[in-house]
Amino acid sequence: MSFTPIRVAVLGSGFFGNTLAMACKDNNAFDVVAICDLDSASAQELATRAGARAVVDPAELAVATDIDLVMIATPNHTHASASIGFLQAGKSVFVEKPLAITAEDALAVTAAAALSEGQLLVGHVERTMPGIKRLFHQARSGKLGTLLEGYGSRSRLVHVPEGSEDWWKLDRTRSGGELLHEIHELDLLTWVFGEPVEIRTIAGAPRPAGSRIEDSVHKTTLKFGSGAVGYHELSTSAHVPDWKFRVSGTEAALEADFRTGKVSRYVDAVVTEQWGIFDSERANDSLRASAEKKQAYNAAGAAGPYWMQAAVECELAEVIAAMRGQESVLIDSPATAVIAGVEAMAQASQTQSSKGTPASTGALVGA
Ligand SMILES: NC(=O)c1ccc[n+]([C@@H]2O[C@H](COP(=O)([O-])OP(=O)(O)OC[C@H]3O[C@@H](n4cnc5c(N)ncnc54)[C@H](O)[C@@H]3O)[C@@H](O)[C@H]2O)c1
Repeated sequence: MSFTPIRVAVLGSGFFGNTLAMACKDNNAFDVVAICDLDSASAQELATRAGARAVVDPAELAVATDIDLVMIATPNHTHASASIGFLQAGKSVFVEKPLAITAEDALAVTAAAALSEGQLLVGHVERTMPGIKRLFHQARSGKLGTLLEGYGSRSRLVHVPEGSEDWWKLDRTRSGGELLHEIHELDLLTWVFGEPVEIRTIAGAPRPAGSRIEDSVHKTTLKFGSGAVGYHELSTSAHVPDWKFRVSGTEAALEADFRTGKVSRYVDAVVTEQWGIFDSERANDSLRASAEKKQAYNAAGAAGPYWMQAAVECELAEVIAAMRGQESVLIDSPATAVIAGVEAMAQASQTQSSKGTPASTGALVGA
């Protein structure tokens, strides 16, 4: 069957807008029509490379008749209002994670999606990696027995470049905070286990004010409707890195280790099967190589590692499926992780202030 290309506009021509636009340009299923950024020079530069027109006013994208899908890759605090505007204009929206930085906004976007002719897809890229999809399908189809517990972690020492004091990624009012900005493993937990019915979070003190790293340690326990429990760890100050997702059932467990690029099936402490997070060994090698490097937030203009390019290709395959009315892992429960993350962060601030660390509050809000 032949399909007409999906006419796409990319909002935001920074680090990830570049990655998305160039991946779409290299994929026959897409026709990159427009690049929009408040920074007109940046929009023009990417538009030239992508063979698209440059646009400065996002409202122009909403009324354009030659756009099917808008990919939103702007700072996190802009996601909800941009998504709602495009959905109300009847466009499909692929919005980078997190969907929103408040629970109310996340629900407002899903409400707008329910009334729109367009689709709402959230860039939960880890769901789309082939090894993680296989883990999900095994867990959800009973191959692990009854699901008992889950574990997700993203702990590393994050380095921040000099001179980035005003960077939105370090400002909680624009990033939503570390837990929402790096929502990936929390999303995997809620994707596999469903909406949590109980959440308990304890946060450690942030690094000293002035270091510009906020929310440095969060430990969250979750209880799901099925009775299964989950544990989520996040740290920007861990000298011992850990980046894993694990689901355990009565018969077996599956563990994805993003630092080794492998998913392992365990039965009673013995590894009985293994597969890659990616189907391509080059991408798994790139994950392993990234694990050996110092970790930093990606700056506009930076070149992402190869595995990220491979991940975006997997993600685009899911976007294409959704746009063709087929099954896609990006459609399910778009707001759940944000709602859980917001609740976890509210509890984190309570645990911090109850310890009498008000000095940290300034650093937390990126004042
Ligand atoms: N899925 C992933 O692995 C992944 C990786 C990196 C970033 N991201 C997400 O991508 C998004 C963008 O991150 P980034 O690293 O590209 O940031 P960035 O700072 O490099 O780029 C953001 C761009 O948005 C533009 N912009 C800001 N406000 C705008 C507005 N209202 N309208 C139009 N343009 C606007 C800025 O000028 C800038 O060019 C974020 O939501 C981030 O969470 C996802």
